Formats: sequence, structure tokens, C-alpha cells
Amino acid sequence: MHDNNDNCWTLFDEVIAAGVDRVILYGPPGTGKTFTALHCNKTHTQESYRITCTDDMTNMDVTGGFLPSADGGFEWIEGAAVKAMTGGGRLVVDEIDKAGGDVFATLLNITDSDGSSIWEHPVTGQKHTASHGYTVIMTTNVEQIEELPQALIDRFPVRIRIDRPHPLALETLPLAWRDYADRMADAGAERMSLRLFQSLNKLSQRLGTEKAAKVILGDRADAFLQAVAIDTMRPIDSTPTI
Ligand SMILES: Nc1ncnc2c1ncn2[C@@H]1O[C@H](COP(=O)(O)OP(=O)(O)OP(=O)(O)O)[C@@H](O)[C@H]1O
Ligand SMILES: [Mg+2]
Repeated sequence: MHDNNDNCWTLFDEVIAAGVDRVILYGPPGTGKTFTALHCNKTHTQESYRITCTDDMTNMDVTGGFLPSADGGFEWIEGAAVKAMTGGGRLVVDEIDKAGGDVFATLLNITDSDGSSIWEHPVTGQKHTASHGYTVIMTTNVEQIEELPQALIDRFPVRIRIDRPHPLALETLPLAWRDYADRMADAGAERMSLRLFQSLNKLSQRLGTEKAAKVILGDRADAFLQAVAIDTMRPIDSTPTI
């Protein structure tokens, strides 16, 4: 069982509440890093923008570029990072370890600390700088933070390893499953992500838990069924009284 005093999600809340505006969330897949980065702890007026890095993405996805317009010409479309930077928004950059060299360099500029992050419009030459509130949260599945390039780590002094599903995400699952889903998120080779439990939950409503578990978990169905049966039989308050 996880220790609630050492909860990565509570730490993330504290970090954002303290006004830290450059954070990396890393660790096993399917724990709610992207969802939380996009939706939680935002000011009411703050917009979120998301970039998912791949080898073959271009700066078009980050800063923008020209696209054909209805009148047969071309018009400049602003990219997600520039929108977030100039509008004081929340920029979520997923799979940061997958960005190629050119895009990576642009991302380094645009996610630098507010005084240094700057982007120059290639046509007008206008220089854009960060507006108040601009926050960048990067997510990745690397296991060790040292796997990321040093230049990136330097710009993001707060790195949090997310080792459990977000508590609000767990609440979307049946009560008896939550403890198991919490434990399995970071269980090494055995791990099971929130996405898997969400699919299992959907299919269970149609086929029943036992059959759905066999379809989705195969050999591991019995372990799951046993664990959730034990959890169901636990007393409601199992906190030891010392
Ligand atoms: N707070 C939440 N409330 C409801 N559903 C959530 C919440 N957080 C996450 N989820 C759901 O859990 C699933 C996994 O979340 P998400 O994609 O954010 O994980 P992730 O950690 O970014 O995974 P990966 O590392 O693979 O990118 C998604 O289906 C998402 O909608
Ligand atoms: Mg993600």
C-alpha cells in the first residue's frame, strides 16, 4: 500500500500552489499525468494547450506556420506553445523524450524561464515573451530523470516521479478495485494502468467482472479477481489503531 503522507499528487498540488511554473512529471504510463497537467490546479481563466512529441513532428506543431487559406493564399497559424506563452496559459508537452533535434531546440527556447523564453515571428520579426501565468508541464515515461537531456533538466528544476494513479481517476473505478489499481500502477513488469482498469470496468458492465477480466487480463485475471474479492471483504475502516 502507498503511504499517503508521501503522495506524489499532493506534492504536485503544493508545487503548483507555490507558483512553480516549470515541472516535469515522469514515471509509468496511465497514471493521469497528462489529464492532471491539462485540467487540475489551474486558474479559472487559464487555457491549456497540449503538444505530443514524436520523431517526425515539426516546429509547425510548436510555434506555428503557414497553412493554405480559403482565399487560395496562405495564412499564419499560431502553434500551441506560442499561444500558451503569449496568453499566460498552461502548456503541456507530452512524451518529451521523443522530440527530434530541431523541435527540441525550439522547445528549449520556448520553455526557458520566463525572462529568457522568447520567440521571434519569422515574418513580422515581432518578439514574443512569456505572459504572467505561463506554466509548462512536461510528461514522459522515462524511469530515471537522468535519461532526459541535461539542458532540459536544467530548465525544469522540479521533477516529480508519479508512481500512482491520481485519486480522482481512481474514483471512476468500482470501490473494490481502487486499492488494487493503486498498487498495480507501478508494479514493474506486472503493472496495470488506469486505462486497462477503465476498459475492464466498461466491459464488466456488459459481460460481468469475471468474464471481462478473462478477456482483458488473460492469465492475470485470477490474481485480479482474488485481490478485489479480498478487498470487498475488508472492514470499511482498516486503519490500524495503535
Ligand atoms: N482526474 C481524473 N479523473 C478522471 N479520469 C482521469 C483522471 N486522470 C486521468 N484520468 C484518465 O485516466 C487515463 C490515463 O490518464 P493520462 O492519459 O493522463 O495518463 P498518463 O499518466 O499521461 O499516461 P501516459 O504516461 O501513458 O501518457 C485517461 O483515460 C484519463 O482520462
Ligand atoms: Mg500522458
